[in-house]
Amino acid sequence: MAPIKNICCIGAGYVGGPTCAVIAYKCHDIKVTICDINAQRIEAWMSDKLPIYEPGLDEVVFSRRGKNLFFSTDVDKHIQEADLIFVSVNTPTKKKGLGAGMAADLAYVEAATRRIAQVSTSSKIVVEKSTVPCRTAESMRAILEANCTANVKFDILSNPEFLAEGTAISDLFNPDRVLIGSLQTESGKIAQQTLADVYANWIPRENIITTNLWSSELSKLAANALLAQRISSINALSAVCEATGADVDEVAYACGRDTRIGSKFLKASVGFGGSCFQKDILNLVYLSSQLNLPEVAEYWKQVYTMNEYQKNRFTRNIISTLFNTITNKKIAVLGFAFKKDTGDTRESAAITLIKSFMEENARVAIYDPKVDAEQIYMDLTEPGVVDNRKQVEKCIEICGSAYEAAKDADALVVVTEWDEFRQLDYNLIYKDMHKPAFVFDGRLMLDAPKLRDIGFKVHVIGKNPLEGRA
Ligand code: NAD
Ligand code: UDX
Repeated sequence: MAPIKNICCIGAGYVGGPTCAVIAYKCHDIKVTICDINAQRIEAWMSDKLPIYEPGLDEVVFSRRGKNLFFSTDVDKHIQEADLIFVSVNTPTKKKGLGAGMAADLAYVEAATRRIAQVSTSSKIVVEKSTVPCRTAESMRAILEANCTANVKFDILSNPEFLAEGTAISDLFNPDRVLIGSLQTESGKIAQQTLADVYANWIPRENIITTNLWSSELSKLAANALLAQRISSINALSAVCEATGADVDEVAYACGRDTRIGSKFLKASVGFGGSCFQKDILNLVYLSSQLNLPEVAEYWKQVYTMNEYQKNRFTRNIISTLFNTITNKKIAVLGFAFKKDTGDTRESAAITLIKSFMEENARVAIYDPKVDAEQIYMDLTEPGVVDNRKQVEKCIEICGSAYEAAKDADALVVVTEWDEFRQLDYNLIYKDMHKPAFVFDGRLMLDAPKLRDIGFKVHVIGKNPLEGRA
């Protein structure tokens, strides 16, 4: 097969945007066009302020945009021109119908696939980049074959994306591995090698893994489930630590020093967030139950249940520590994004926590360095509930700094681990807060002994609250 010259990416989101911008950056001979039906998003990709915040992304996009990197809403035209198409559309958890709350909503994948079949006038490689349930490629193939014009042939590959937000560019420059699955037919294997050749422009061949289609699809769900399982495991232990006087950071370190366990992804927290972990675990749970494997489904479901428990446990602890009521108290929430170095708020623990604080009639002051006020309002408003937006606006205040949020607050709650929260002048913050001034560290990131010396009452996940008390 001839080398790839023209790539179209359907979906200009957190994955399609950075992954295909990096391909353009690393392969100047390939024309890359990233398409989306969302015109506002495409406009932002073409502007000075990109639609997503990701360290290093501006440099990559600005250096290739208009040369071999393009953004467009004309999906059909770029499908037609491409030799290879990445399908990188959203696959959220279904909100209603069969499998609601668990199964992946594949409507966007199907719509993109039908479009490819309808408008293609030449043969193409179609790459499943979105995270999908195992065997989705089979449905895509059936749709493509049933709707294509004569003499047009499609090869389908699975090439799941493993980047993490906040480190997307370095993950894409230097991935642990790239995974490409194909049908084990002659033409499938040729297509697989053709895509491998694109990545080989900057990734060592030994880091490009080739498997069958179904292994590739399942590996993506499996990797996210295993990563989330580690977080739920350490979070489960954090509850035991709080009850016994063990320190969860010390336990994680001691366990992580065993090379069989390893040290990464053992940081206890207020619970994992992000658009992937919860969605993909539930997707795996649903897949397992559909395959009539209830014990397997139950096993993975517990990873999700433990995450919900951790968020609720943290909230309950805040309320009980604040003398069992937070009504009319001011709670300063530091961080709203689901992790540092991103403005993404999808499934952020902050949303669950703040909704609970509002239920208890607290006043909530929120500061996040990268999340827009409008996004925060949208995340906290229940869709379809009359006057809900007004009620939310009454309960919350969006602040321009941590100091503003903390002024006259009864408690400071750290939800996102932004580096700047370590550097704050806590003497100043203490002076401005109601006393006793409480700090709840949901990220185990602050210097608790120093804060206690200032006068704060400090509670840290996974550490006995009696520690440091006189
Ligand atoms: P996203 O919502 O940010 O972007 C998806 C984009 O696809 C949207 O802009 C939407 O308008 C567009 N779209 C939907 N249907 C379309 C169509 N028919 N034609 C053109 N555009 C269309 O989603 P994302 O975070 O980029 O995730 C995309 C996929 O990648 C998901 O399956 C996700 O699970 C997976 N993934 C995400 C991450 C991550 O960190 N966000 C990491 C790995 C994998
Ligand atoms: C994740 C996977 O890491 C990535 O490989 C996949 O492609 C997409 O899903 P992402 O969700 O962007 O990436 O970020 P990640 O760093 O995995 O963090 C997810 C959540 O877990 C965040 O809320 C983070 O704060 C939390 N986390 C992570 C912990 O609480 N403890 C840890 O030790 C690690």
